[in-house]
Amino acid sequence: MKSTSSAGRVINKGRARLKLRTRLRAFAHPAPAHPANGALPTLDAAGPVESLPARRTAPGSWTIAPGTGFIDQHPRFLDTSTTAATRSRLNLRHEAIITDNKDVLEGARVLDIASHDARWTYAALRAGASHVTGAEGRPELVAHAEENLQHYGVDPDRYRFIVGDIFTTLDKERPQADVVLCLGFLYHTMRYDDVFHVMSQSNAEFLILDTQVEPSREAILRVRTNGVVGQGSAFTDSPIHTGQVLVGRPSVRALRTMAWVYGYRLDRFSDWSGILEDNPPGRTVKVYRAGARATLRFKRDPSLGTPPEE
Ligand SMILES: C[S@@+](CC[C@H](N)C(=O)[O-])C[C@H]1O[C@@H](n2cnc3c(N)ncnc32)[C@H](O)[C@@H]1O
Repeated sequence: MKSTSSAGRVINKGRARLKLRTRLRAFAHPAPAHPANGALPTLDAAGPVESLPARRTAPGSWTIAPGTGFIDQHPRFLDTSTTAATRSRLNLRHEAIITDNKDVLEGARVLDIASHDARWTYAALRAGASHVTGAEGRPELVAHAEENLQHYGVDPDRYRFIVGDIFTTLDKERPQADVVLCLGFLYHTMRYDDVFHVMSQSNAEFLILDTQVEPSREAILRVRTNGVVGQGSAFTDSPIHTGQVLVGRPSVRALRTMAWVYGYRLDRFSDWSGILEDNPPGRTVKVYRAGARATLRFKRDPSLGTPPEE
């Protein structure tokens, strides 16, 4: 609403009221500052959709010559899993999860959450990890995992498996690691605080997440459900009511907010744009192409303070 002041100046009353309200609010709640870390981030504010950034490598860097992919050379993993175990998908995921993170996997102690039949446990060891602890709920998959590592001749001193619901087992055992792999797991749960808690308890420098993401500019979580029967579904020790459990699908911005609370910053995305450009288009990876799934690396940032107290 416009009016004229006694001095004859045209003023906008609505805007003036808003400004005054904003000033009063700023006075009542001064800009929050983390005690140790300076200002809190504004990650929960809207930003660009981040899930599929432009390629960061030269064209052709990711081309997999016929017969040279990870699964081409280790086809046993096609038989020991029924969860999206296709040659092209696993070959391409290997590039994003392992090859693009080789720099941090070499020499590292790794915690592989939801280790399944040990496909990424083995791939991490092959990439130079010194030791991998796999954590998996389903005993039959751990049996496959043991057989696979034996079959490929891995020294048993370089791995171990923890069987059971990770929310119970990892909280109890607290394996220490330099790198956590949390792959294909975050959409089997709604317990994000607990996942980040067990990951940060490992004192890892890096968290590598491969997960479905809600393609949104905001820090949001889509509520969904997941069955508990079958290798590629949620696993729980707790009683369930309907055969389904509550799960979620966070946006990248939501993941960044969660990680921040536990002292981790987004370090980089794996180069899915390049991987997809350099290799034949496959139906099995269309979720990555659509920006609805991503591989992200988070790095501990000491300037964010120490992880929460026990
Ligand atoms: C979709 S598969 C992912 C396998 C592998 N990490 C990958 O990315 O290819 C999900 C795995 O998580 C396991 N899982 C789901 N919820 C779990 C829980 N609460 N504790 C332990 N394992 C769980 C399932 O048994 C299954 O092996």
